[in-house]
Amino acid sequence: MPVHGLTPILLCLLPMWRILTPVSSHPQHSQCQLIQRTALCNNGKLSSVPAGLPDNLEELQLNYNHIQTLQDNSLLRYPSLNTLSLACNSLEKLESNTFQHSKLLVSLNLANNNLHIGCQETSHALKTLPRLRALDLSENVLEDEMVATLLQNLTSLEYLNLSGNLLQRLDETSFRNLHQLKELDLQRNIMYEIDGAFDGNPKLQRLNLAFNYLLCLTDFHMTQMVVLNASHNFIEWFVTRPDLNDTFQLETLDLSNNKMLFFPFLPNHSHLRNLYLSHNSVSFYEHLADNSTFLNSTSTVEFYNMKKYMGNVTAQLWNESLYGDISSLEILDLRGNQVRYFPEGFIQKMPALSRLQMHTNCLETLNLASEQFSGSLYELDLSNNRLNQIVADRSTLTALGNLTYLNLSLNNLERLPSGLFSSLPSLRSVDLSYNNVDICRAEEAETSTDTSSACADWKDIASLMQLYLKGCNLTIIPSSAFTGLSLTHLELSDNPGLIVQESIQSLSRTLQHLGLGNTQIQDLDFSHLHSLESLNISRNSLGYLPPSLLNLDLKVLDLRDNRLSTIPSSQANALAPKLHTVFLTGNPFNCCQTEWFRTFETTKTINMVGRSDIECEDVIQMTHRVERYQTFFCLEKDGESIIWYLLLFVPICLFFVGILIIVLLTFKPKMLQKSIKKNCLKPTSY
Ligand SMILES: *[C@@H]1O[C@H](CO)[C@@H](O)[C@H](O)[C@H]1NC(C)=O
Ligand SMILES: *[C@@H]1O[C@H](CO)[C@@H](O)[C@H](O)[C@H]1NC(C)=O
Ligand SMILES: *[C@@H]1O[C@H](CO)[C@@H](O)[C@H](O)[C@H]1NC(C)=O
Ligand SMILES: *[C@@H]1O[C@H](CO)[C@@H](O)[C@H](O)[C@H]1NC(C)=O
Ligand SMILES: *[C@@H]1O[C@H](CO)[C@@H](O)[C@H](O)[C@H]1NC(C)=O
Ligand SMILES: *[C@@H]1O[C@H](CO)[C@@H](O)[C@H](O)[C@H]1NC(C)=O
Ligand SMILES: *[C@@H]1O[C@H](CO)[C@@H](O)[C@H](O)[C@H]1NC(C)=O
Ligand SMILES: *[C@@H]1O[C@H](CO)[C@@H](O)[C@H](O)[C@H]1NC(C)=O
Ligand SMILES: *[C@@H]1O[C@H](CO)[C@@H](O)[C@H](O)[C@H]1NC(C)=O
Ligand SMILES: *[C@@H]1O[C@H](CO)[C@@H](O)[C@H](O)[C@H]1NC(C)=O
Ligand SMILES: *[C@@H]1O[C@H](CO)[C@@H](O)[C@H](O)[C@H]1NC(C)=O
Ligand SMILES: *[C@@H]1O[C@H](CO)[C@@H](O)[C@H](O)[C@H]1NC(C)=O
Repeated sequence: MPVHGLTPILLCLLPMWRILTPVSSHPQHSQCQLIQRTALCNNGKLSSVPAGLPDNLEELQLNYNHIQTLQDNSLLRYPSLNTLSLACNSLEKLESNTFQHSKLLVSLNLANNNLHIGCQETSHALKTLPRLRALDLSENVLEDEMVATLLQNLTSLEYLNLSGNLLQRLDETSFRNLHQLKELDLQRNIMYEIDGAFDGNPKLQRLNLAFNYLLCLTDFHMTQMVVLNASHNFIEWFVTRPDLNDTFQLETLDLSNNKMLFFPFLPNHSHLRNLYLSHNSVSFYEHLADNSTFLNSTSTVEFYNMKKYMGNVTAQLWNESLYGDISSLEILDLRGNQVRYFPEGFIQKMPALSRLQMHTNCLETLNLASEQFSGSLYELDLSNNRLNQIVADRSTLTALGNLTYLNLSLNNLERLPSGLFSSLPSLRSVDLSYNNVDICRAEEAETSTDTSSACADWKDIASLMQLYLKGCNLTIIPSSAFTGLSLTHLELSDNPGLIVQESIQSLSRTLQHLGLGNTQIQDLDFSHLHSLESLNISRNSLGYLPPSLLNLDLKVLDLRDNRLSTIPSSQANALAPKLHTVFLTGNPFNCCQTEWFRTFETTKTINMVGRSDIECEDVIQMTHRVERYQTFFCLEKDGESIIWYLLLFVPICLFFVGILIIVLLTFKPKMLQKSIKKNCLKPTSY
């Protein structure tokens, strides 16, 4: 192999190089930056630990160098070292006596190296570090036994990072001696089993198991655990050991991106505050509990430990009262699941709930009156469900004193509880896009006595700042619709045929973003909207830029998919200094009137989104990229194309040529006869 052939040569060159380096690059620590007792020697192409640094050095960073072996004597000079970082070298081993004199070392970062190669010898070196508290071994191609060897004697370790290795299964021996361990990162391995692995780590508080191949977490009994991250596995069950009456310290549990069908079986007593369950298949099955036919034999599921015949776990299915203590929950993330309803009393059990994220589930109705959400509810995201009804009365609504973000977009709502929005005192942002709800006219809002109404009333909600009404089939917005509001964001896009009337004039003081894309709006007067910074008027068949835009301080302008053929220089010059982002693709620009493009192009502060996709048409309707088009064929002054002149000249020339031919032929009639004979009397061959 060529590699083997090369090695002796390299080995021979190495001593030579060693001799030369001190001469050619005099004080070795010139590659290092010294800050008090810290030496930063990162990105230095170093192949060994630099000598000649102050010997009272406490921290040494050698990340991104080319150190392959940490030699026995390399740290001799620095006995005060407490932090050593060697991440991203090509480190294969630490020689056994490397840390002989480094008794103060507490933190060692060996991330992203090749320690799988010299794992035995490295383990001898690590054995001599009884005080080591933090060790990073992430991304070292380590397998199960290698890890066990390396960790044998690190009894004082508190932080250990093993992420990005090749761990497959853990058992009670894996971390046996790490009695002080508090934080363990095992993400991005290939683990499918963790049998009793953490029983020897009574202080473990933060454990990351994300991105592995775990199938279930049953018999969870680590009462001291505070943050458990098991996201991105294939977990179907999370079951707490049932015979435990202790209070769990658990605060954050991340089970997102797994295969859970059931809500996790949580401890009966805990401080759980954040529960992430997004992207599973969680649903509630209480409606099946009485269905004796359906459930004759499957009301419980048992988990056996094949090896020990002990610690059997039995989970009672279908009974939501057994899901454990959720009374401290503040964030419940259930996005992307199969929830059709909340079990009775479920919401009520969470008096501290502040964010409930239900984006993309199967909710059909929501009864705010009976669910009894807590007053601390801050964000309620019910977007992309099948909601066709929301039930609420005024007293339940005013009790939601902290509700600030409400997202109801992408549902089937046609009616809403009367006064829904005006009764929520802290409401700041409402998204009602893609429902079928209209905006109330003044008379409708006042006279309505029904508990629900087919239109939403937005008047005088002082706290409201962001209103999204995309794709609601709106036609006419009553001129008084937004009076008394201080909206900064108003999104009305995707309402084709929308008539806005004077309604937005009342927002002239506050409105910063206005979305009118795909509304077929033509000549709206924007001049009153002094605070407007972002305007979307894409997909509106606009043939010219509304002149009232020019006086605004627009930073973002979306003009995509209109019928603009040019932007007159005066307009481009007025917009260019203010704009930060402009969208212009999908317009039939005239290739010979692209002065605006150069203006925008030379203004460095503008981002023309999709710049290379902006196209123009030339005289013969051929499309080109504006960026590439050579204006060679265009007459510079007024932008007229030379082709126009060609087209004008050609008929005139033809006319004269025609006359010439006729004149010639009249004087030589014989030639005419001949040519007729030739052309017309030829015998046809078919
Ligand atoms: C390291 O651990 C092994 C087994 O756990 C033990 O036999 C040995 O004495 C320890 N060595 C040191 C230096 O502590
Ligand atoms: C562990 O190491 C990986 C990769 O080096 C890093 O992304 C991760 O943040 C580390 N974990 C902790 C808890 O520091
Ligand atoms: C869990 O780990 C994944 C992967 O590192 C990370 O993206 C996610 O934010 C973590 N979850 C929590 C709650 O920190
Ligand atoms: C937890 O609560 C459920 C129902 O209240 C009960 O059946 C179970 O025995 C309890 N578990 C413990 C460990 O207390
Ligand atoms: C469980 O613990 C609670 C206090 O946390 C105590 O009131 C209760 O009696 C205990 N139950 C059992 C069965 O030990
Ligand atoms: C529950 O039982 C009733 C009849 O007892 C049946 O009509 C219904 O379909 C059952 N539901 C399910 C989900 O099995
Ligand atoms: C349910 O189980 C009981 C006893 O095991 C049996 O008598 C009954 O027929 C079963 N019902 C159904 C619908 O299978
Ligand atoms: C666990 O289940 C096995 C098999 O059914 C049984 O033999 C054993 O006694 C059970 N152990 C406990 C602790 O319940
Ligand atoms: C659910 O479990 C609780 C507590 O064990 C019990 O009181 C209740 O009757 C059960 N509900 C159903 C539907 O089985
Ligand atoms: C309202 O929500 C905010 C943000 O989550 C929170 O800081 C505040 O404590 C909450 N207020 C109440 C009364 O719950
Ligand atoms: C509401 O939810 C939809 C769908 O998840 C999302 O696209 C939209 O950005 C959300 N609205 C707001 C105001 O965050
Ligand atoms: C402008 O509105 C259109 C139509 O709704 C939408 O497709 C586009 O993404 C919006 N532009 C921006 C920049 O958000």
